[in-house]
Amino acid sequence: MRVTFKKTFLFYLGLVSAALLLPSACSDSSSLGRSDSSFFSEEEWKIIRSLAAVPAPPPAATNRFADNPLAAALGQKFFFDPRFSGPLVNQENFNTNEGGNGLAGQAGNPLDGAIERVACATCHNPSTAFADSRTISENVSLGANFGQRNAPTILNTAFNDFYNYDGLFDSQWAQALNPIENPDEHNFSRVGVALAILQNHQAEYEAIFGPLPNLNDAARFPQVPNPPVFVGQGRPGDSAADPSPGGALDTFDGMTPSDQQLINEIFANFGKAVAAYERLLISRDSAFDRFVAGENRALSADQKRGLKLFIVDSLCVTCHSGPNFTDNRFHNLGVKQAGAHVPSQDQGRFGAVPALLSSEFNGTGPFSDDPAAGARKLSGLTQDSRQLGQFKTPTLRNIDLTGSYFHTGFKSSLWDVVDFYNHGGDRSGFAGIQSVRINDLNMTETQVNDLVSFLRTLNGAPLPSNLTSPPAGIPFPPP
Ligand code: HEC
Ligand code: HEC
Repeated sequence: MRVTFKKTFLFYLGLVSAALLLPSACSDSSSLGRSDSSFFSEEEWKIIRSLAAVPAPPPAATNRFADNPLAAALGQKFFFDPRFSGPLVNQENFNTNEGGNGLAGQAGNPLDGAIERVACATCHNPSTAFADSRTISENVSLGANFGQRNAPTILNTAFNDFYNYDGLFDSQWAQALNPIENPDEHNFSRVGVALAILQNHQAEYEAIFGPLPNLNDAARFPQVPNPPVFVGQGRPGDSAADPSPGGALDTFDGMTPSDQQLINEIFANFGKAVAAYERLLISRDSAFDRFVAGENRALSADQKRGLKLFIVDSLCVTCHSGPNFTDNRFHNLGVKQAGAHVPSQDQGRFGAVPALLSSEFNGTGPFSDDPAAGARKLSGLTQDSRQLGQFKTPTLRNIDLTGSYFHTGFKSSLWDVVDFYNHGGDRSGFAGIQSVRINDLNMTETQVNDLVSFLRTLNGAPLPSNLTSPPAGIPFPPP
């Protein structure tokens, strides 16, 4: 299903200008950014302004702690704290040259089982715009094991409607729970989280969320050791992996429903604190924003040509729209599943919808602070075969810093990404049907270079260092 470029061009230019989302801060001023009025048409300026000036994040209705500064401070500790992680299970973790999480100086040592090596900041590195700079390119991210996808930035994720490439989560706080119990990432458990909060963060936690239950009562709450005695101990479903007779009583599955509920609440609060921190990670004031605000020299001539390609000839802006350069929707670009450890199949959005709708941590569930708002977001969402192979449009802010690219991590440079678009994507090796918006662009090499130069103008001003470094007392990076 390929339609010609010219036909789609006129259609989408209309679509973009009709849908001009948020009026940007300077749309009411006719004097700004006009020094290049001969190069950009009036219509083009309208689109350009719609991309600039990142606003304040929208309210996070399902998290009543989202704007609580104490929660954000605690969330920052959680974000950097490797004590919320269980055993490493992949030997490549001990190849520290290639980004492993094992113990420095012990490369090659068969140390499977080393613990407390993985924090959120391991894969979301503050010095590379909170994306994964550690895992080698053409690869998915390495935590306790290799996962399914490459870690994206978390800057400006407060603007997302849905989280992860496939939209598996409908809030920042629910997203933050998943890496903890994911056997490829932190490989930890919700009971372990509660116990680690008791041990390391009790006073701060209680000042925000109220008293912890008596987690020392081993008859009610299993004292899950780290490393656990059996895989998955302390997470739902753990009784299946428990080899000892009657052992289920010692695990999450064996707890009473009301005690499980207490553990789940602590777990949800962990996510809400992390989300309060992530909401502060807003990137703005890039060279591009300064250009739109009137600083004509903030962009060079080739970057301006690249901007024109971005909004007109290459149609990038039909998906990468608004101040965060994303329509917050899902598309199938035709990215083949290729690269070391990249799974041979990825259904994208299609696989995520049922799991999102049935999750106890979604916005309609018992841990949501506004189930009605949560229900409005999910209303009408159903699984649909058109979702096969669709992935969320990522932000392009800071894109120069966040390689490697795509959900597979397969493209190691921005030039490779633009070259991919220039050739209309991959022909095979992906699930579902490629979007009709992806077509050969027939750009010359100079145009490809110009477009890449423009993408490099989207790095934001540095965030305050107190937001990007581990708080005092947190053992990160792990020794
Ligand atoms: C092992 C590496 C790894 C660790 C550790 C990790 N993440 Fe991620 N993160 C990823 C990957 C990979 C994705 C994309 C997952 C997907 O699309 O399925 C992701 C996605 C995200 C997203 C969604 C971004 C978006 O635009 O949708 C957020 C937010 C996030 N992680 C926050 C966290 C937090 C908070 C923690 C700690 C609790 C954490 N991550 C731990 C690798 C990691
Ligand atoms: C049909 C919608 C659509 C169009 C048109 C589009 N993109 Fe994308 N873009 C996406 C989606 C969806 C992804 C994520 C795909 C994936 O990882 O599988 C993406 C990913 C990217 C990435 C990698 C982001 C990352 O963090 O890994 C870059 C860079 C990018 N696009 C730039 C562009 C440029 C430049 C153009 C124009 C030539 C363009 N896009 C056109 C939807 C689109």
